[in-house]
Amino acid sequence: MSDKIAYSRHGDIAVLTVRNPPVNALSQAVRQGLWDGMDRAEADDGARAVLIVGEGRAFFAGADITEFGKPPLQPHLPDLINRIEASPLLVVASMHGVSLGGGLEVALGCHYRIAVPSARVGLPEVHLGLLPGAGGTQRLPRLTGVEAGLEVMTTGRHVGAKEAHALGIIDVLQDGDPAENGIAYTEKLLSDGAPRRAVSEMPPPTPIDWDAAFEATLKRGRGQISPAWCVRAVQASVEKPFAEGLKAERQIFYDLMQTDQRQGMIHAFFSERAVSNLPELKGVEPRPVQQIGVIGGGTMGAGIATAALLAGLRVTLLEMSAEAGEAARNRIAGNLVGALKRGKINQKGHDTILNDTLSIATDYDRLSDADLVIEAVFEDMAVKKTVFAALDRVCKPGCILASNTSYLDINEIAATTSRPADVLGLHFFSPAHVMKLLEVVVADATAPDVAATGFALGKMLGKISVRAGVCDGFIGNRILSTYRTCADHMILDGASPYEIDKALEDFGFAMGPFAVADLAGLDIGWAVRKRKRAEGLDPRARDAAYADKLCEDGHFGQKTGKGYYDYAAGPKARVPNPDVMPLIEAERAAQGLTPREFSHEEIVRRYMASMVNEAAKVVGEGIARRPLDVDMTLLFGYGFPRYRGGPLKWADIVGLDGLLADIKRYAEDDPYFWQPAPLLEQLVAEGRTFDDLNKES
Ligand code: 3HC
Ligand code: NAI
Repeated sequence: MSDKIAYSRHGDIAVLTVRNPPVNALSQAVRQGLWDGMDRAEADDGARAVLIVGEGRAFFAGADITEFGKPPLQPHLPDLINRIEASPLLVVASMHGVSLGGGLEVALGCHYRIAVPSARVGLPEVHLGLLPGAGGTQRLPRLTGVEAGLEVMTTGRHVGAKEAHALGIIDVLQDGDPAENGIAYTEKLLSDGAPRRAVSEMPPPTPIDWDAAFEATLKRGRGQISPAWCVRAVQASVEKPFAEGLKAERQIFYDLMQTDQRQGMIHAFFSERAVSNLPELKGVEPRPVQQIGVIGGGTMGAGIATAALLAGLRVTLLEMSAEAGEAARNRIAGNLVGALKRGKINQKGHDTILNDTLSIATDYDRLSDADLVIEAVFEDMAVKKTVFAALDRVCKPGCILASNTSYLDINEIAATTSRPADVLGLHFFSPAHVMKLLEVVVADATAPDVAATGFALGKMLGKISVRAGVCDGFIGNRILSTYRTCADHMILDGASPYEIDKALEDFGFAMGPFAVADLAGLDIGWAVRKRKRAEGLDPRARDAAYADKLCEDGHFGQKTGKGYYDYAAGPKARVPNPDVMPLIEAERAAQGLTPREFSHEEIVRRYMASMVNEAAKVVGEGIARRPLDVDMTLLFGYGFPRYRGGPLKWADIVGLDGLLADIKRYAEDDPYFWQPAPLLEQLVAEGRTFDDLNKES
C-alpha cells in the first residue's frame, strides 16, 4: 500500500489515515492508497466499517492541482469515490481543517460524515476555472437542494462546519480529536445498526429555471465561464440517472480543463503563493515589528494606519498640526466603521483601537520607539527629504524607514539619511486597508533583512507583496503609465474613451482605464504629465493635452462629480460627459489628425501589446524579478481579470511571436512608443515563454 495511507484496525473498524502533507492533496499515490485501503478493509476478517481521516492540517484540500494539464493518472477520483460509496462496509468520513473540492467529494462518497466545529468545507473548483469533477455537482444538491448547492459551488466559498451541518452536508459536529471522534461515531453507527447510505441513491432535488440560472450566473461571472457551467452540471443531476449525470459532469470538467481560463486561474493560484517567496530572501530573518509610525494622515496614511491597526499593531500617526491630526483620526474612524460593518472587528475591538492602540502626534520624538515608519506625505521630493531627515534624527537604530511614494526615487530619499540600508519603499494602493497589493520597493542599499521585513509586514496586513526595483512608477504604475499612453494614442487616432472602456471591460477588467482615472482622480495623472513635461518630453513622444483641459476646468473625476463621465446620478450610474468628445475633437484637429474606426478587438490588442511590451522591459531590467511578479501586481492592484492569469500569462497563451509581430507593425507608425522589449525579442527567438522564466527562477 502507498505510504500516503496508514491502515490500522480498531475493533471492527478499519481506519485509513491520510498522510500527504502539507494539506493532503489527493495525488495519484493518495488515490491509489485509498483504493488499496478499501480493498484491504473489505478483505480484512471482521472489519465491518471503514473510517477515513486526515493527518495534519486538513481532511483533504482536494485534487492535486499540480497534476492538472498533464495526462490523467489512474485511479481517477470519480472512480475511487464510486468505489468507496459502493463498498459493502459502512464508510465514514471524519473531517477537520478543510475538505475542499475532491476532498469534500470523497466525504460525499462516504455513507456518514462527522466534523469538528472548526472544520470548513467547500467546492472551490470555479476559482481554478473548473467545476467539481468527481461527483460534487451530482451529490451535493441531493443533500442541500439545488439553490444552496449551486450557491456553494458557484461562489467556491468556504462553508463553516456549523452551516454545513445545517445544510445537511455534515451529519454530526463533535469537538475533539478527529480520529477518536470518528472511531466513537462509527462504533455508535454500527451498534445502532445504521444502514449504508449512498448519496447517489437519494432522490434528485427539485428543478429550477435552468436557463435563467445559467444566464444570471454567466453575467455575475464577468466573463468567467466555469460558475455558469455548474448550473448545467447540476441540471444533469436532476434530469438524468446518477451515472449519466456523473458522465455529463465529467465531460464539462474535461472541457473546462482545456480552456485558457483554467490555465490562467491555476497560474494565479500558484503565483499568488510564489510571489512572496523570493529565492534571495530564503533564510533571511525579518526584524520584529510591533510598533509602527505613519507620517501623514491623508488618504493613504489613514488607510495604511487602518490596515496596521486591524492587524493588531500599535500605530503612532504624525501630522502637521493638531487639526490635521484630528482629520486623520476621523478618516481612520470612518474606515473602522466599515470594518465593523463587515464584521472584521467587534465594537470592543473598534473602541480599543481608537482609544488605545492609535496615537496621534505632531512631534517627531513620539516616534522614538517605532520599529518601522511609513511616510505618506505629499508626493514632493523636497517634503519627503525633510521628513526623512527628521526620522533619521529621532528613530532608534534598526528602525526601518519606508516611503509610500508612487513615483519618486527611493535611492535619492535613502541618500538623505545616515542609514540607507534601513530604507525601502512600501507602496500601498488606495484604499490601503482594502486593496490587496503591496509593492516592496528594494533600493540599491536596502539590507536583505529590511526587504524581508517588508514582506513580513505585508503578510501581517494580509497583503500580496511583490518585490519591485527602483524606477519611475516601480512595476505597476510604470506599466500603467504605458498602457494609459497607448489608450491616449488610440483616442487621438479615432477611438473614444467610452469605446476603449467598453472593450476592456468586456475583456474582463473590473473597470476600463478612463473609469479608473475618474475614480483615482484626474489630478493625479495631470500632476504626472506636468512633472514629465517639466523634465522635458522627448520630441518623438505624442502628447494628449486634451485631458489637461478637463482638469483646468476643475473636473477631477468622481470626487468633483465629472471627469470622462458624469456622475450626477451616483458613482455607479456613470454616463459620458458631453464636454469630453469636443475637447478630443479639437485636439485631433489641432494636431491635424484624421480619426479612424477602431474595432474592440484592435483596441484590446494594442492596449495589451503595450502592457506586455512594457512588462517585458520591467522584467528584462530586473525591476520585477520574474514574470509572475508582474502578473500578480496587475491582478491585485489594477483589476486585471484573474481568469486570464496576468498580462504575461495572457501573452504566453495568445503567443509571443504574434504579439511581437504586431508591435513591430505598430512601430512602423510610431517607432518611439512601440520599441520592442529586448526580452520579448529574445524569448521569441529562443521559442520560449514567460512561464519558462518563472520555472527557471
Ligand atoms: N493541490 C496541490 N497543492 C496544493 C493544493 C492542492 N489542492 N492545495 C494547497 N496546495 C499547496 C500550496 O500550493 C502550498 O504549496 P507551497 O507551500 O509549495 O507554496 C501548500 O499546499 C500550502 O498551501 P497554502 O500556502 O495555500 O496554505 P493555507 O493553509 O494558506 O491554505 C488551503 C490551505 C485552504 C487548502 C489552500 O491551499 C487552498 O485553497 N487550496 C486549494 C483548494 C482547492 O482549490 N481544491 C480544489 C482542487 S480541484 C479539485 O478538487 C477537482 C475535483 O473536483 C476533481
Ligand atoms: P494626501 O494629500 O491625501 O495626504 C497627505 C497628508 O500628508 C496630508 O494629510 C498632509 O497634511 C500630510 N503631510 C504633508 N506634509 C507633512 C509633513 N511634513 N509631516 C506630516 N504630515 C504631512 O495624499 P495621499 O493621496 O494620501 O498620498 C500620500 C502619498 O502616497 C504620496 O506620496 C502619494 O504619491 C502616495 N500614494 C498615493 C496613492 C493614492 O491613490 N492617493 C496611492 C499610492 C501611493
